[in-house]
Amino acid sequence: MNVPTQEPIIEIDAISKSFGDFQVLKGLSMKVMPGEKLALIDPSGSGKTTILRILMTLEGIDDGHIRIDGEELYHMPKNGTLVPASEAHLHRMRQKIGMVFQLFNLFPHKSVIDNITMAPMLTKGVSRADAEKRAMELLDMVGMADKAKAMPAQLSGGQKQRIAIARALALSPKIMLFDEVTSALDPELV
Ligand SMILES: Nc1ncnc2c1ncn2[C@@H]1O[C@H](COP(=O)(O)OP(=O)(O)OP(=O)(O)O)[C@@H](O)[C@H]1O
Ligand SMILES: [Mg+2]
Repeated sequence: MNVPTQEPIIEIDAISKSFGDFQVLKGLSMKVMPGEKLALIDPSGSGKTTILRILMTLEGIDDGHIRIDGEELYHMPKNGTLVPASEAHLHRMRQKIGMVFQLFNLFPHKSVIDNITMAPMLTKGVSRADAEKRAMELLDMVGMADKAKAMPAQLSGGQKQRIAIARALALSPKIMLFDEVTSALDPELV
């Protein structure tokens, strides 16, 4: 993975973010290379979740630039300059990024396997047979193959978290964001 000419998959360039008059991020810059695994470790309230939410376009930025896979996230080129990104541009960019939240929101009325197959079938046009085959591989990977037919309410917190991880991986995003996702898992599973 140490090819010197390689482009970062994520490039954060001097971004700032405030909530009201409280500035959370002040000129933050960082890069993540393809294949790199980066952990953000910082005190509670320092802005880790905010950074992930910004990368998911759930929160905007006040200043700076973000490039994903060589393309501007919050800007797009128009007539030789960069203008704020349209909703269509954000939608297309979002397909490259998956996230597992601190509070994993499984669909409560859907079985485990349906939670995993729904998005690939609806957003990527994957057939049910292919989606279920991939879901079973992922469930096997997180040690939950025997719970495929269970409902989320029948699972423990750590089991729900593993399903949320499998669900996010089912969309094969280029970038996977995890927000304290291993906090409810046994150390052997992390
Ligand atoms: N929507 C919001 N409106 C106002 N303030 C917010 C909002 N979201 C986050 N904040 C504030 O921004 C700061 C950073 O929050 P964030 O959730 O990014 O922290 P964190 O580093 O993820 O913390 P933790 O380790 O506790 O999860 C906190 O002080 C928080 O209160
Ligand atoms: Mg957080």
